Amino acid sequence: MGTFDKEINRRRTFAIISHPDAGKTTLTEKFLLYGGAINLAGSVKGKATARHAVSDWMEIEKERGISVTSSVLQFEYDDYCINILDTPGHQDFSEDTYRTLMAADSAVMVIDCSKGVEAQTRKLFKVCAMRGIPIFTFINKLDRDSNDTFDLLDDVEKELGIATCPINWPIGSGKAFKGIFTREDRMITMFSDTEKGTKEGNVEKVSIDDEAAARKAVGDEFYEKLLEEIELLDGASSEFDLEQVRKGKLTPVFFGSALTNFGVEIFLQNFLKMATTPLPRKADIGEIVPTEDAFSAFVFKIQANMNKAHRDRVAFMRICSGKFDASKDVYHMQGGKSMKLSQPQQIMADDRKILSEAYAGDIIGVFDPGIFSIGDTLCTSGKKFMYEGIPTFAPEHFARVRQVDTMKRKQFTKGITQIAQEGAIQVFQEFNTGMEEIIVGVVGVLQFEVLKYRLENEYNVEIKLEPLAYEHIRWIENKDEIDVSKIVGTSDMKKVKDMKGNPLLLFVNPWSVGMTLDRNEGLVLSEFGRE
Ligand code: G4P
Repeated sequence: MGTFDKEINRRRTFAIISHPDAGKTTLTEKFLLYGGAINLAGSVKGKATARHAVSDWMEIEKERGISVTSSVLQFEYDDYCINILDTPGHQDFSEDTYRTLMAADSAVMVIDCSKGVEAQTRKLFKVCAMRGIPIFTFINKLDRDSNDTFDLLDDVEKELGIATCPINWPIGSGKAFKGIFTREDRMITMFSDTEKGTKEGNVEKVSIDDEAAARKAVGDEFYEKLLEEIELLDGASSEFDLEQVRKGKLTPVFFGSALTNFGVEIFLQNFLKMATTPLPRKADIGEIVPTEDAFSAFVFKIQANMNKAHRDRVAFMRICSGKFDASKDVYHMQGGKSMKLSQPQQIMADDRKILSEAYAGDIIGVFDPGIFSIGDTLCTSGKKFMYEGIPTFAPEHFARVRQVDTMKRKQFTKGITQIAQEGAIQVFQEFNTGMEEIIVGVVGVLQFEVLKYRLENEYNVEIKLEPLAYEHIRWIENKDEIDVSKIVGTSDMKKVKDMKGNPLLLFVNPWSVGMTLDRNEGLVLSEFGRE
């Protein structure tokens, strides 16, 4: 294999999905510790800043000119080149969080062992499942009291509809946490706390088949319980099948405690072995493989600068094939132009590194003078094609927007349109009228604040937001076959259209969706909007 192929094949690009507080940041820190990217865990990103109140967050954005929490981390481990895509959570959960998943080849799902599957995990999982990417489960916080292990697996299977295959198994939890049993080599790794900023620590292992030693290590009660559980597990759980894992049908499950750095390296090693190399992507001329010579990438996220003095934006793109060389021209399909990408950079949490080259699987951020849109393709003029677009994700919060000063109609429309193009908000109109009545939909409520702030500061327009009760939106998949004005809905349903005139339905109650489907034969609704 030549250097080019080797570089691509050693790449693993993934996102970590979880509900806030499950331990995503902590796990990321520990990964970086193993990769030697940082010396001390805890300095990945200012966790404190990530949790700031809205007003502080705005200040941070202004100072830095870029969101502190939107980044990609690259590090090396064992000859692998790893890209972790940060999926903003907490208050800054937004459509960007979903879009980031479009750039990943696999996902790590972190679950708190005392909580099981939670709301945000469920939402992010759905997007991963739609793409059929492999999902690896890390059940975290075993140093705290845990739910029953079988119940946790059941929860994942039932809530998410994916089969589970435990690679290891916890012995006790909380104060009685003894360690984990690895099924493949039948070894028990005794729990030890290696938190204190180092990756070393005494790893003590004992074989379950050395009965006397194992009993001594974990105690009679836990030893017997473990034997019982393994027997049950061997009979009940799905067999490990890498094919199924890679299709996203089976999730390997690992247990550990990110805080105390236990079970993290075993997870990382196995994950890297099982996860895929950069995946091929669908384009209008067929699938493009990453090891193809010609460079290509697509834009999955645009980060507007909150700093008034620097109105530039950063476009994040995922390289899908070839090698990026900063000295060469690339071709922007949607703009129909050749160009040099200015200041391509890798955005780490705290600093930006100017790049001269990058490979398929990598993410780069480039300065965007306002020419890129989400979903745009970059390639070479020698081989032109377009990648499949990025779907629009269902907003869950809606508000009617009113201008305080109706004289500023032009600025208002311009501002709303631009902010919508960057993908921060989605704009809808009444189905039968025009721009007078605007409804804005967002994935995360913070985007309402962002909208208000930016309209005031960048466009000098003051607005009032009136929250609406809708929480569910559906695109009409077969809109060309259906007469939308004839759709009979429920009393809480509202018909709207997006900026391109596509009809959509808004609902307050989830069950109204099903009722509307029942009442309108042949109607096909979708939670994702496709171009
Ligand atoms: P997130 O990014 O998924 O939101 O979670 P994060 O890593 O920030 O972890 C949330 C809280 O859970 C943190 O505590 C963190 O220390 C703790 N935590 C993470 N992994 C483990 C684990 O394996 N065991 C235990 N016991 N706790 C864990 P915090 O008090 O909210 O934050 P901090 O003030 O300690 O930083």
